[in-house]
Amino acid sequence: MQDRTPVLQLRQISKRFGAVQALSDVDFEVYSDEVVALVGDNGAGKSTLVKTIAGAYRPDSGDYIFNGQRAWISKPSDATALGVETVYQDLALCDNLDVVSNLFLGREDGTRFGPAFADVLDEVEMERRATTVLKELHVRIPSVRTQIANLSGGQRQSVAVARAVMWNSKVVLLDEPTAALGVEQTQQVKELIKRLRSRGLGVVVISHNLADVFEVSDRIIVMRLGRRVATFETANTTSTEVIAAITGVGPQHRPNGANA
Ligand SMILES: Nc1ncnc2c1ncn2[C@@H]1O[C@H](COP(=O)(O)OP(=O)(O)OP(=O)(O)O)[C@@H](O)[C@H]1O
Ligand SMILES: [Mg+2]
Repeated sequence: MQDRTPVLQLRQISKRFGAVQALSDVDFEVYSDEVVALVGDNGAGKSTLVKTIAGAYRPDSGDYIFNGQRAWISKPSDATALGVETVYQDLALCDNLDVVSNLFLGREDGTRFGPAFADVLDEVEMERRATTVLKELHVRIPSVRTQIANLSGGQRQSVAVARAVMWNSKVVLLDEPTAALGVEQTQQVKELIKRLRSRGLGVVVISHNLADVFEVSDRIIVMRLGRRVATFETANTTSTEVIAAITGVGPQHRPNGANA
């Protein structure tokens, strides 16, 4: 994995909010066909890092590299134009609209299909595409014409993920996708995450649930107090080691990148 070029890489990213140094010289990388879990205690800087990758925050310093090329990201549409999509916890779905409308929401500019594409999309074609993407991702909902308000939390999360990946995305970032979900819905979302990987995407998942992290991820990147403090191959580590890195205490703690 380390011989490949990451699909997305950040180098030495720093971000300060007033007195709070939220990110300090953070390196980050995600490869195609992999799930990276980003873990760390509350306030470690995970969401700030994801928002920086998504173009929602501009870092104070550092480089953004996409497919080995330097990229300049100053707003979310710069990231989505590269194929970097983010699903935030609030999901940004419209409750009063149906699934089809939500999947196409905000894409009227025809991003990545050329400007004319959205104009020629009629309702029938939108419904067909919506049905196809949900089927490919094995998302089960009563109907693509169901209002979002009538879906379960897991179904909403799945629709938000489908919305993020149906536009030829290369990287998808999920900030605590299972935090509000029950056992079975969590399972559905984890299956969906694995399916994204099998479609060749680079997937970044923030989670506080280490059992979920161990189930879905290939690598685990640990942040603490705004720094990246450890990297693990999931298959070659234990939750004890990861917890030691998260808390910064314990005999098994390894310094930055020792396992990378
Ligand atoms: N918009 C902001 N303005 C000011 N401070 C912020 C802002 N966003 C984050 N911070 C601060 O930056 C630090 C990192 O926050 P961040 O939300 O990235 O943590 P996190 O790892 O996502 O935590 P959690 O697990 O609780 O979601 C915290 O000290 C937080 O208070
Ligand atoms: Mg957060």
